[in-house]
Amino acid sequence: KPIVLSGCQPSGQLTLGNYMGALKQWVSMQDDHDCLYMLVDLHAITVRQDPKQLFEACLDGLALYLACGIDPEKSTLFVQSHVPQHAQLSWVLNCYTQMGELNRMTQFKDKSAKNENNINVGLYGYPVLMAADILMYQADKVPVGDDQKQHLELTRDIANRMNNLYGDILRVPEPHIPEFGARIMSLQEPEKKMSKSDVNPNNFIGLLEDPKKITKKIKRAVTDSDEKANIYFNPQEKPGVSNLLTLLSLSTGKSIDELVPAYEDKMYGHLKGDVAEAVVGLLEPIQQRYADIRTNRDYLNDVMRNGAEKASARAEETLKKVYEAVGFIPKP
Ligand code: AQP
Repeated sequence: KPIVLSGCQPSGQLTLGNYMGALKQWVSMQDDHDCLYMLVDLHAITVRQDPKQLFEACLDGLALYLACGIDPEKSTLFVQSHVPQHAQLSWVLNCYTQMGELNRMTQFKDKSAKNENNINVGLYGYPVLMAADILMYQADKVPVGDDQKQHLELTRDIANRMNNLYGDILRVPEPHIPEFGARIMSLQEPEKKMSKSDVNPNNFIGLLEDPKKITKKIKRAVTDSDEKANIYFNPQEKPGVSNLLTLLSLSTGKSIDELVPAYEDKMYGHLKGDVAEAVVGLLEPIQQRYADIRTNRDYLNDVMRNGAEKASARAEETLKKVYEAVGFIPKP
């Protein structure tokens, strides 16, 4: 089976963007792929986190993965900091990555503009740690949203560089970006992507938010000042409306072409009402499952322990290969 690896940061509550761009794909790939899914807490501290909140967000995230349908019997589910090889491989790859390459990363530019007081070395090296995560498991495919495309390219470049120097030690992965839903936009500023750490909570929908709050946020979403309230899909001309149609399509499983004709004589309010209903309908069963799982700490501990054990054993194989390739003496 092809190997799949992906992760989300516990840097806040996972959003509808994370679900559509990543988690939804993760769940669907479990049967015919060998999947490893993680919570990337090492990545999360590249932006200052409140320790108590990070601790809880990690457990929340894990319970949410499970509630969304990640099955620990089928997939290896783990917390990144439980597998020390990630930091170890990341160090080696740092030494095979050029500063010029990292300077070009748009996520670093965006995040350092937003966190002017904490432009730390970890934030700069974020893509290298991500490369280590992926290359560690010899992943074939990496299901991610559109924003991670550039990091995937860098991962491929690093893998090719190592392979050219030392022979075929790392598999070169392919991004797996959904054709539709790879970039869910912010509700109030539909020209930028929905982000869980956005300072304006009206910009995102958390997967665990109260249905009433979700409905309110969707009803307040920015559309446009088109007097005729034409409802059609065109992200350039109508970013807000197109984002709502995307959410409706992904939540109902109906295509945009199927959906649009029904809104010919309707107002934006109608569309928003339908989107709210569909999103709540999608999230309610997930929230119910989550409530049961999140309170079962013994179960969560079992999942984390088993996942870390399985992941560590696999990670060690690649780390050994890389250490040997660069010339480190194996521990006698
Ligand atoms: N708006 C989005 N639409 C589609 N996919 C998205 N992803 C993130 N935002 C969207 C995908 O979710 C996965 C996990 O992302 P992450 O948590 O590792 O970090 P991120 O990409 O930086 O996501 P956020 O929500 O914007 O987090 P913060 O605000 O903490 O930086 C990735 O596959 C990503 O593509």
